Amino acid sequence: MTQPARDLDFLTACAALEWMVELGADAAVTDTPVDCYALAESLAPKAPAAPVAEGRAPVAPRAPLPVEGPDPVESARAEAARAHDLDALRAAISGFDGCELKKGARNTVFADGNPKARVMIVGEAPGRDEDQQGLPFVGRAGHLLDRMFAAIGLSRTSPDPASAVYITNVLPWRPPGNRDPEPAEIAMMLPFLSRHVALADPDVIVLMGNAACAAALGRRGILRLRGTWAEAFGRPALPMTHPAYLLRQPQAKREAWADLLSLRARLDTLPG
Ligand code: URA
Repeated sequence: MTQPARDLDFLTACAALEWMVELGADAAVTDTPVDCYALAESLAPKAPAAPVAEGRAPVAPRAPLPVEGPDPVESARAEAARAHDLDALRAAISGFDGCELKKGARNTVFADGNPKARVMIVGEAPGRDEDQQGLPFVGRAGHLLDRMFAAIGLSRTSPDPASAVYITNVLPWRPPGNRDPEPAEIAMMLPFLSRHVALADPDVIVLMGNAACAAALGRRGILRLRGTWAEAFGRPALPMTHPAYLLRQPQAKREAWADLLSLRARLDTLPG
């Protein structure tokens, strides 16, 4: 257990921090979990007790007033609809303040690859490397993703739309400690993803993992969904296991390879 911060001098604190980073810590959290629901309740202004007139039934407490301010999902929809090209969409997402994740992120991660590609890959959310570099899939999982798609002749650096991929994520900001995206965060950013697909206009979409399937298909259970073509945003979509999962479970690469071949066959038969 580390000592309380007040007992540390500056240099010891720096050394302790360096040691934690060395061990893999990459997000600042508190020593003990905070129950935000309890906190919100304890901070909420208390309504003065209603005077109870003698002989009358007490007045029922009023329902809490709705939170002031625009609904963030509605704002996201309006902002996304106003974006008429990918640059405008990137600016709209960077300027969107409805999602708390933005406050803890270094960068807004919009996309990488060739926006004219026939294939658009949708991942989950930036991790530490992506947050640092401002690009999707640039860490270990990203290197595997590049190798997987290279094996069927596709690359994010190809200038030819027929052999290129375009890559984005459901969330443009890194969740703290790489936790799973919450349903509310996915719902909030979905209008931007939907507009992103419409503007990039790919022939097919690859949904990498559960968060992408939850956003695009409204379904989870990637091990059941993978390999079966579905429809998302009005176009063919192939759910696949996420490369981060394949790094942990290398035996699943055999099925991922079958999925890549299915994608290759679809591209070869679909008019491009
Ligand atoms: N995992 C994702 O889903 N997306 C990234 O950009 C990086 C890792």
